[in-house]
Amino acid sequence: MCGIIGYVGNKPVVDILLDGLKQLEYRGYDSSGIAVECDNQIKVYKAVGKLNNLREELSSHAYEISKANTGIGHIRWATHGVPNVINAHPHTCNCGKLAVVHNGIIENYKELKQKLEALGCVFKSQTDTEVVAHLTAMNYAKVNDLKQAVQLTAHEIEGAYALAIMHSDEPNKLVVTKRNAPLIIGVGEGEYYAASDIPAFIQHTNNAIYLKDNEVATLTPSELKIEDSEGKPIIAKVEKLPWEPVALSKMGYKHFMLKEIHEQPDVIRNILAGKLRCSDEPICLDEVKLNKDSLKKLNRIQVIACGTSLHAAMIGKYIIERFCQIPVDVEASSEYIYRSTVTDSNTLVIGVSQSGETADTLTAIKQAKAKGSHILIITNRPDSAMAREADSLLSVNAGIEVSVAATKSYIAQLTSFYLLALYMAEIKESHNIAEINKIKQEMLVLPQKIEQILVNKDNIKACARKYSSTRDFIYIARGINYPTALEGALKLKEISYINATGYPAGELKHGPIAMLDDTMPVLSILMNGSVYEKLLSNSEEAKARNAQMIALTNSTDKKLDELFDFIVRIPDVDEILSPIVSIIPLQLIAYYIAEFLGKDVDQPRNLAKSVTVE
Ligand code: M6R
Repeated sequence: MCGIIGYVGNKPVVDILLDGLKQLEYRGYDSSGIAVECDNQIKVYKAVGKLNNLREELSSHAYEISKANTGIGHIRWATHGVPNVINAHPHTCNCGKLAVVHNGIIENYKELKQKLEALGCVFKSQTDTEVVAHLTAMNYAKVNDLKQAVQLTAHEIEGAYALAIMHSDEPNKLVVTKRNAPLIIGVGEGEYYAASDIPAFIQHTNNAIYLKDNEVATLTPSELKIEDSEGKPIIAKVEKLPWEPVALSKMGYKHFMLKEIHEQPDVIRNILAGKLRCSDEPICLDEVKLNKDSLKKLNRIQVIACGTSLHAAMIGKYIIERFCQIPVDVEASSEYIYRSTVTDSNTLVIGVSQSGETADTLTAIKQAKAKGSHILIITNRPDSAMAREADSLLSVNAGIEVSVAATKSYIAQLTSFYLLALYMAEIKESHNIAEINKIKQEMLVLPQKIEQILVNKDNIKACARKYSSTRDFIYIARGINYPTALEGALKLKEISYINATGYPAGELKHGPIAMLDDTMPVLSILMNGSVYEKLLSNSEEAKARNAQMIALTNSTDKKLDELFDFIVRIPDVDEILSPIVSIIPLQLIAYYIAEFLGKDVDQPRNLAKSVTVE
């Protein structure tokens, strides 16, 4: 994980680095640092904790660094070594002339460290990154050229990395390279940026180059040179970036999470536009590159994902099996990659990822691709590493999601699964067309239903207030909303640190019911449909153990008032579509509880938005 940024040009670099790091905070926020070139020296400043601490640290050096216009910066999510100032990046070689920032993991750092220590290098930190500083400095001493030194280093290090390196003997210059980690170069007028992600520089330029694995780029204010690992020059394509800076503003909301929750109706509208116009027209999904024959030949579908994306995938299984009659397995990517999976050319493998960069999912996708499966990627980042592996790419277009807790990207993934399943069913003719059309009709009005929930959220806020002091929380559901229970619990855990668990309600009596007493809230996701009565009786069982009962329901049944201590009612919707509507109050409950508890909603402790390490 971690985020890196670099700048060469004629502008004062410090604010460019700090503003860029601010936009990369979703990648980590346990410490940060910058290195800038001042009077032919490299000056390094670091701080533990949020970026504001680094800003404060820099304020007492404002004058000496004000003229600097070349520098690199880093925001950290610790993998090797605790978050402290010494382990914060940039790391330097012993003479202090070379500084490096790194995102990723150097897997052979222990061997390299031993070798370098034997040659006299003195290590200060516990990080894997410091080997890059010493190794490149050693190589520099041999070749006296920063680019060549970095090329030599890249041949020796193993693992995943994006690196930005500067040397005081080569002023106004940065050398950057990458392998299995994102690095994008922003192309300005007489200036260049290099960063882990676009938001770090998009307020300055929307012209960008996606550096490829093993390429080494040399950036000076007047020139950009890119070479492959063997030193052969590369002519890179400059792309126009699609996202506007306005997407990164909170637009008046207190937190990005709240803003992103409120964006969900429009996210659905955007996805449906052009793909589902009206109920009696077939769904248009040209992105799916499987023809009727290959769709008919599919013998199974595997869906791989992590976290919230995994929950979307679990709902995807219900929908695809219901409409397409194809068996679907869903698995956490981190498990998938460490067993021998059965996939072949008649298996469709779907990777789901907001970021498109999650290391476990990326590895899983590559494994499946090597076995000849068709790879379909559902992602919010069409420019990501996963998207580049795709045979079919479903870009969910939810816009940049800043809050670590995924909300709108989840809704976008769900919407995409519905479209995909219905599209495949129409082509395969595997389901009753009248029912398909009825679902399509209901999908078109989902945004209004969500808007109704958002407008009437006071009751949800009251529910959050009532239960904000609880230490544990249980969510129960059955059928297609079981993953909703998991996702509701995940949202609460990650931003409020309350111990929350989702259960398939039928499992309660096989163990978890032992935990119930009058201190335990049990939230029942009670949607009209096939499992309504069953879940009602599971809720009765929990009530009989004195649990505090909360219903999230689209039923208008008055009898519920007797059973439940608190009821959150939402608009009615067909059971198959209910996960899209039922998750909204759960996102809001998690949000308001975290808010009442004074937690850092958008940047919860120990987490990062994009998990680019295994
Ligand atoms: O970018 P991805 O969708 O691949 O990320 C997967 C998980 O890391 C992510 O969903 C995580 O669980 C979120 N913080 C949940 O809100």
